[in-house]
Amino acid sequence: MRKIFIAGNWKMFFTADKARAYATELKEALADINDVDLAVCTNPIALEGVAKILAGSNIGVGSQNCSENNEGAFTGEVTTEMVKAVGATYALVGHSERRTIFGETDAIVNAKTKKILAEGLLPILCIGETLEEREGGITEKVIKTQLTAALDGISAEDMEKITVAYEPVWAIGTGKVATPEMAQETHAQARQILANLYSDELAQKVRIQYGGSVKPENAKELMNQPDIDGALVGGAALKADSFKGIATYNS
Ligand code: PGA
Repeated sequence: MRKIFIAGNWKMFFTADKARAYATELKEALADINDVDLAVCTNPIALEGVAKILAGSNIGVGSQNCSENNEGAFTGEVTTEMVKAVGATYALVGHSERRTIFGETDAIVNAKTKKILAEGLLPILCIGETLEEREGGITEKVIKTQLTAALDGISAEDMEKITVAYEPVWAIGTGKVATPEMAQETHAQARQILANLYSDELAQKVRIQYGGSVKPENAKELMNQPDIDGALVGGAALKADSFKGIATYNS
C-alpha cells in the first residue's frame, strides 16, 4: 500500500553541465521503472537544468536546502519559491549535514518544513541519531524529539505530504549500514511516534525511507522490512548503475 520511494541526494557534487549529462543518463536508464517512485535532489545551480531534462519523466526533482524565510537579506540562501520556480517538487529538510555542519536546530527544521509545505513542495524530513546516542541507548528518544519538534503545528493533511527519512548519522557516508533488523526497529518506533502525534491510520500512510550507505547489495534486504518504504541515497546515487541497482532491488 505504501509505494517504495527511492531518492538520490547528490550533495555538493556535479557542476550544472555534469548534472545535466547525468540526469540525461538516468532518465534513459530508469525509464522503465514504475513500481517505485524516484527523485533526485541537486544543488541549487544544477536544479533548473536537471528539472528541464527530467520534466514529464518518472524521476522527480528536489532541492537539498531552502530557507525558512521569504525573500530578503539572507546572503547565500535560496527561497522555496526560487527552487519551485525552476522545477523542484521535493525539498530535503533536516539532513544531518545541515544540522551538524550548518547548525540547523529542530526549531529551524520545523520552520523550514512549514515553509516548504506552504510553497506546495513535498518535504523529505530527515531524522537520525549519532553513534554516541545509539550507543547510549537513546535512539528512540532522539527520533521522538526530532519528529515532535519538526512536526510541531503541522496538520494531519500536511503530514500526508511528508516523507520521513530515517538516517542514522553513523551510517551516512561511512559504509556502516544499520542491519535491516536494526533499521526496521527504529522505523517501527518512528511510525508509532507518528501514530501518537496524529493517528494510526495516518502513520500507516506515511513513507519512511532509510538512509545511510544504501547500495544495490543491501537495498533488497532493507526494502523488504515492513516499515522501510524506500531509501535516501547519497554516495550510491552518484552513478547510474548503482542508483539503478537500488531502484530495481526487486528484480
Ligand atoms: P550515503 O548518504 O548514502 O552516502 O550514506 C546518505 C545521505 O546522506 O542521505
